[in-house]
Amino acid sequence: MNEKHSKPSMLSVVVLGASGDLAVKKIFPALFSLYCRKLLPASFHLYGFARTEMSDEAFRTLLLSHLTCRYTPGESECQALMEGFLGHCSYIAGNYDDADSFERLNRVLEAAEPADGTTKRLFYLSVPPFIFEPASASLHRAGMLKEIPGTRQCRLVLEKPFGRDRASSDALTKDLALLCAESQIYRIDHYLGKEVIQNLMALRFSNLIFEPLWNRNNIEHVRISWTEEIGVEGRAGYFDQYGIIRDVMQNHLLQMLALVAMEEPANLHPESVRDEKVKVLRSIQPVCFKEIVVGQYTAAEFRNRQRAGYLEEPGIPADSRTATYAATVMHVRNRRWDDVPFLVRAGKAVNDQKAEIRIRFREVPANIFNASPTPPRANELIIRVQPDPALSLSVMTKVPGLRMSLHKTELNLSYASTFNATIPEAYESLLLDVIRGDKSLFIRDDELAASWDVFTPVLHALEECIIKPQGYAYGSNGPSSADALAALHNTVWE
Ligand SMILES: NC(=O)c1ccc[n+]([C@@H]2O[C@H](COP(=O)([O-])OP(=O)(O)OC[C@H]3O[C@@H](n4cnc5c(N)ncnc54)[C@H](OP(=O)(O)O)[C@@H]3O)[C@@H](O)[C@H]2O)c1
Repeated sequence: MNEKHSKPSMLSVVVLGASGDLAVKKIFPALFSLYCRKLLPASFHLYGFARTEMSDEAFRTLLLSHLTCRYTPGESECQALMEGFLGHCSYIAGNYDDADSFERLNRVLEAAEPADGTTKRLFYLSVPPFIFEPASASLHRAGMLKEIPGTRQCRLVLEKPFGRDRASSDALTKDLALLCAESQIYRIDHYLGKEVIQNLMALRFSNLIFEPLWNRNNIEHVRISWTEEIGVEGRAGYFDQYGIIRDVMQNHLLQMLALVAMEEPANLHPESVRDEKVKVLRSIQPVCFKEIVVGQYTAAEFRNRQRAGYLEEPGIPADSRTATYAATVMHVRNRRWDDVPFLVRAGKAVNDQKAEIRIRFREVPANIFNASPTPPRANELIIRVQPDPALSLSVMTKVPGLRMSLHKTELNLSYASTFNATIPEAYESLLLDVIRGDKSLFIRDDELAASWDVFTPVLHALEECIIKPQGYAYGSNGPSSADALAALHNTVWE
């Protein structure tokens, strides 16, 4: 739709599950940041919808407790911005499967939308996954997802997890396809909104130096690691149903892998980018049972405190087999990557808190420095997503002095010190894309299916007890067999 249309236009954002953590701590604060940066249209309204009874005033107070003026320093200006923003927010209580609730919601939206203008409606399902289908069906029944060419656009935003395996994900995709077009659906993987992840394409395709090296001839292996020092902390119910593979690996880490491994898209059009991601995801072999280690954390002392094991956490069944740690080796079977192992791991309650990609290059053949007292080490490109987003490249250099002594040094690009700018939160970037209709960073249905194919057999094997989680002490580096798996590929988890 032409944004410069002369008719009055309106943006209506409805967040379903607005009483929840994600809505209050991430979605509304991100919308506030867009408001502060004048990136929301002149005419907009934000609605919270959930079962909890709440007045508009109580809802605004709840939102206010999580708003920060990241882009606008200065107490008084910040106060005015918050008041201005909250004036655009209201709350409607209702049930996700109740027709009356949604008809009421529709009437409220219609009353605010210009009768002779254009509207953009954005429905964000910030609810547990089992509510996706009934809530979308309610929106459909009330006619709220119906697009009117030239007048009304409607978008549906979903948060992972999208299903539990290939079959349930396909079923969800099929159910949603009966309610709206794939072009209206925005499946969020918030990792794709992170600045460093968005930079992967720029790094690979707008620098001459990397692409000629970016293949099996020069890269020995790739490691993608996501770790947290905390256990399930307040998300026990959700986590126990899904586990680390569904929560982190099948989505965030596989998306990172796809961006590292994909071919260059024909252009930056969202469909060109997503076509390349689908292609590479389809080249990944399903994870082999012999190449995965799963673990579950056990009680231990960590950072001077006694920590409960997973099975002792409140809300976790004493016989749960849910994995809190997984490490695996993936294989991309194509000409670029054949025989290059992609080692991927995700773990909770381990001794470090970070998300990063490490690309290890091969040794220099017949290196003339091999006999030196400090033998050369292979180059490594490190893309750190969190904490402290950074890019660094390890290179061997001569230590200044009278002897020829080598030292591994880092060429560092720290985002904080290089860019004198506030780095947007992932949700700011993603919500702006939904508003603008840019789907580059959202998961397409065929991409989702291809990513489930990689993990479905192993997830079923876990459920059928063919693979069992091994215990690892809270605050350790994970199960020892995960170290052995890395050692098979001459590396370690860092
Ligand atoms: N929190 C995060 O950082 C995060 C990150 C990535 C993805 N996600 C995904 O984003 C979605 C929302 O996350 P969240 O942490 O905000 O979830 P949440 O707090 O568990 O749920 C959001 C809201 O949904 C409603 N709800 C919860 N359980 C329900 C039930 N059994 N029946 C009906 N309604 C129920 C509640 O509102 P009412 O009771 O008032 O209706 C709740 O406030 C989930 O799908 C989650 O998997 C969350």
